Amino acid sequence: MVELTLPRNSKISGEGKKYEGKAGDSAEMRTVNIYRYDPDSGQNPRVDSYKIDVNGISMVLDLLIKVKSDLDPTVAFRRSCREGVCGSCAFNINGKNGLACTTGLDELGSGDINIYPLPHMPVVKDLVTDLTKFYEQHAAIQPFLQSDDVPEEEHLQSPEDREHLDGLYECILCASCSTACPSYWWNGNKKAEGQEDQEYLGPAALLQAHRWIKDSRDDKTDERLAQLDDTFKLYRCHTIMNCVQVCPKGLNPAAAISEIKRMLVERSGQKVT
Ligand code: SF4
Ligand code: FES
Repeated sequence: MVELTLPRNSKISGEGKKYEGKAGDSAEMRTVNIYRYDPDSGQNPRVDSYKIDVNGISMVLDLLIKVKSDLDPTVAFRRSCREGVCGSCAFNINGKNGLACTTGLDELGSGDINIYPLPHMPVVKDLVTDLTKFYEQHAAIQPFLQSDDVPEEEHLQSPEDREHLDGLYECILCASCSTACPSYWWNGNKKAEGQEDQEYLGPAALLQAHRWIKDSRDDKTDERLAQLDDTFKLYRCHTIMNCVQVCPKGLNPAAAISEIKRMLVERSGQKVT
């Protein structure tokens, strides 16, 4: 049985504040509940409610921007590109991880809209999470070309080999998949004294590992596979499939992980059926 210990002061408690915006002509009022937490304050998190006119607003990110500019400038969240490219606006929206800038209000039914930070990650403030660990895991798979060839101009690749990267290279590292994965929550760093790091790398890092394994220009396929042949790093994927359900780019980290497992069986000399 897995036992999780909540960080101190992390339980939502107490009454959140309530705000109400002005209703314009042909107003369409909706309530958005936003997780509020400032770990430095020593207080527990709360959920504040904002009743706001959403007439003319189509995306969740626009709604957050309107809440911040019209009702409460203290709400903290990250965003940049506003078009599903930078990966910085991933939150838990009505119970599902996804990008605020590509999630339409029309996808969220007619009730309250609930916006929380990505699950499992430490909260810096409100909807801003600390993704240091996530980026370290990405760095651990060595996400760059490693080739013994030193071409005069560039590493060439045939269109057919390039196609093998489709469904892999599009990842924007938004962390929606990894933070939606219960195995990722349960199998964080379990380093015992005197032992190597033991942690599940999670769907995003493993999808990227597969992206470099599949790259015809890379010469380190065997080393990359050897590095992943580990009870924790790779084999803590139990094909729960939350990663596939939430990926805003429609990618399939679970399939990438199972392909790495298949390649490892092949590498070990066993027959793959
Ligand atoms: S695989 Fe999809 S959900 Fe996961 S980090 Fe990449 S874009 Fe985000
Ligand atoms: S703001 Fe860049 S992905 Fe949403």
